[in-house]
Amino acid sequence: MPQQFKAPRGVSDLLPADQPYWRFVRETAVRVAESFGYGQIDTPVFEHAGVFLRPNAEGTDVIDKEVYLFQDRGGDELVLRPEGTPPVVRAYLEHGMASAPQPVRLFYVISAFRYDRPQAGRYRMFHQFGVEAIGEADPYIDAEVIDLLRTFYDALGLRDYTLQLNSIGDPVCRPAYIDKLRGYYSDKLDRMCGDCRRRFDLNPLRLLDCKNEPCQPFKADAPRLIDNLCEACEAHFAAVRSLIDDLGIEYNLDPLLVRGLDYYTRTAFEFQPRVEGSQSTLGGGGRYDGLIEQLGGRPTPGIGFGTGLERIILNLKRQELDVGAGRRPDAFIAVADEAAAGKAMQLAHDLRLAGLTAVLGSPGRSLRAQMRHASAVDARYAAIIGAQELADGSVTLRNLETSEQANVPLNSALARLGGANAAS
Ligand code: HAM
Repeated sequence: MPQQFKAPRGVSDLLPADQPYWRFVRETAVRVAESFGYGQIDTPVFEHAGVFLRPNAEGTDVIDKEVYLFQDRGGDELVLRPEGTPPVVRAYLEHGMASAPQPVRLFYVISAFRYDRPQAGRYRMFHQFGVEAIGEADPYIDAEVIDLLRTFYDALGLRDYTLQLNSIGDPVCRPAYIDKLRGYYSDKLDRMCGDCRRRFDLNPLRLLDCKNEPCQPFKADAPRLIDNLCEACEAHFAAVRSLIDDLGIEYNLDPLLVRGLDYYTRTAFEFQPRVEGSQSTLGGGGRYDGLIEQLGGRPTPGIGFGTGLERIILNLKRQELDVGAGRRPDAFIAVADEAAAGKAMQLAHDLRLAGLTAVLGSPGRSLRAQMRHASAVDARYAAIIGAQELADGSVTLRNLETSEQANVPLNSALARLGGANAAS
């Protein structure tokens, strides 16, 4: 027997019953991003490996453990995008957007791929809504990006989330802080997890957000980056906080928030749902003032966020939010005589052109079976065409909610069913 397949671990089919959620979330993302003046960008699913495997990215889980890296048949090293930011920066540079008025405001709704340990809200293929504002260093843009994300959540009707905010400094103040942090942790490493022993050398900031039990007791007394910011970073952060206050956005200052990707500078933020554990961040982002240079551009500031659509949908379902139903068929065309199949298909065609939805019954099946099918797809009307209707150019319309039935001339069916061009 040929083998039957299941989808690979950690990836899902998005079935028709879930599509109203997906449509609602995607449409809201587009509407909100456009209302802030962000333009949509689609980048390819895979990129040259170097876009992601930059020397600075070493030491992050996403790059060390999770990238889907492959060689194509021509020998090129490619990576399935694990996130949206570096591809957007690559496109910004490639298409000369640096010479447009800055900041360039972009958004995307994409699939992304990480070889992660699958669990609720964590998948190997997932979807992100993200924005990137490139070419602006002023703190107003940090506040705008955060405002955009909370506006998106509010527009969806998501409640019960908190904003966590931090500043993780820049190349001026961070090296001295990292030395301090290493100094603090150096005599504690033997009591810490294996991941942290590795992080100590490669990416010591991540010591602060380790989730493993043995490492927890050491966090409280660790030196805090916000107490070690240089003057410029401190002034920037104060301005961001003041704008966020002006916007009435509540937040918690979280000195342990460091983010999982390598490129962050200064502002870092995450939105957490109140009800769930630590793996459930709804969305996060921050400033990446060094990334454009790492990808071959001139020094250029940037900031953005990514938010996971699967996690949003989990939360929408948990809150039992009404996202509307999928589109019901206006008519199910039941073919009561195989000779009428052509006429039935012509009627379905006319209805569809008039903006209605029409589903065709299987001409070889009994009328009863077709009527059962009509109920199963929740059609408003059954339009029945058999030998009699074929002979006198009519159709029998049955309202499937009231069971009222009428035989009407074929050319008036459209008007009865409410088609857009019904009058013509
Ligand atoms: P990130 O924090 O790695 O940031 O991911 C952003 C969001 O994507 C997460 O908060 C989560 O909702 C979702 N997400 C991440 N991994 C998974 C997964 N395995 N399964 C399901 N959802 C997931 C970024 O990706 C940055 N590019 C954000 C950014 C944009 N920073 C600046 N600009």
